Amino acid sequence: MEVDLLTPFPAGLTVDYSTKCNLRCTYCATGSSSYAEIDMSEQVIHDIAFFCRQLELREVWLSASGETTMAPGWEESLGVFLDQQGFFRLHINSNFARQFTKKDLDALNRFGDIQISLDSSEPEMMKKQRTADLRTIVFNIVRLRQTMIANSRETQLRINCVVSRDNITHIEGLASLALLLGISHLMLSELAAENDNPHMPDLLEKMTEEEALSFARSVYRANEMLRGTPTTMDVQGALLAKLLPALQAMSAGVTPTNVLANFRAETRQSTIGPCLEPWNTVLVMAEGNVKACCGTTESFGNVTETPLLEIYNGEKARAFRQRMLDGGSDLPCYRCPVATSATPAEFQATVEAEQRKYAERGLYYPPPVNAL
Ligand SMILES: C[S@@+](CC[C@H](N)C(=O)[O-])C[C@H]1O[C@@H](n2cnc3c(N)ncnc32)[C@H](O)[C@@H]1O
Ligand code: SF4
Repeated sequence: MEVDLLTPFPAGLTVDYSTKCNLRCTYCATGSSSYAEIDMSEQVIHDIAFFCRQLELREVWLSASGETTMAPGWEESLGVFLDQQGFFRLHINSNFARQFTKKDLDALNRFGDIQISLDSSEPEMMKKQRTADLRTIVFNIVRLRQTMIANSRETQLRINCVVSRDNITHIEGLASLALLLGISHLMLSELAAENDNPHMPDLLEKMTEEEALSFARSVYRANEMLRGTPTTMDVQGALLAKLLPALQAMSAGVTPTNVLANFRAETRQSTIGPCLEPWNTVLVMAEGNVKACCGTTESFGNVTETPLLEIYNGEKARAFRQRMLDGGSDLPCYRCPVATSATPAEFQATVEAEQRKYAERGLYYPPPVNAL
């Protein structure tokens, strides 16, 4: 079978329903000078749902930027997804920082997977880094769990912790709070400097050697604490690669040395950011622009002008994928914390294997005309 490496094989889609937010986290694009507040139109929401049906896309994520739960009537506007739980599996990122109403909780109860943004179990740190009140977040989690129990729902609750130089020693404390709150996964993500927010905390590469060692210890202890409990801890790909030598040394009973060296971006072995997101997901922004992921600014087109089906295998999207396959160091993927590392040849082989798997499942992009 001949494989066209530039054709997407989407498995899911992200809907940036609203870019408005109740918070102003110090590292978020909402604090950038160019940030615009927009709500997605009903027409765009319906176009997206149609696209999902055409391509059998069942995994839908809400909120790449902004806070979906902040818009009044969000659960009704998104009814085309929320009322079709038999078809869609819904995921949401949320700050949980506004006290939820019963209506909010009932809507959240319909999600398969909820990722709550929480960077520390210390109220002061949550105020400093996320401008949020930890008490409200914890109360919302408890009330949501009550709602889930009352409805016999098994929604997965996750925490995403963004690690900056400020909260490196907070991992252990956050892990114990996650355990107490019945969270299934605690994810550690590295702070990315992808916007011009003037309040941006220091990146991990600014740590001193002593701080880097304290960070590794905090992660190690958190992992030990969670061992054998229902709460697991994951560390995002590139961050794990930086931490791994130190974690392995600690597990062998040795004090790690040169921990900081791995956090310096220039030591990265990779010639490429081998990420499949431009092939296997689609991000539709509130104004209708289509992008590869939230780490890029390049738009492949706007769904108010061109059908999503066309945009996603259009000239711009294909050229972007070609640049990734070529190992284009002009792309933000090269420094993205999500991507691990590979050579262009390894990455091409991965894309080819994924293309074949997609075809073996009987899926094609675009789908045959009689499926439209
Ligand atoms: C942009 S927010 C949108 C959803 C929602 N408002 C929230 O905070 O969960 C999605 C996730 O991106 C994370 N995030 C925002 N800016 C970031 C940055 N510069 N580096 C790494 N993660 C970031 C947030 O902490 C959050 O977990
Ligand atoms: S990270 Fe989320 S909660 Fe914080 S300002 Fe950005 S969109 Fe809002």
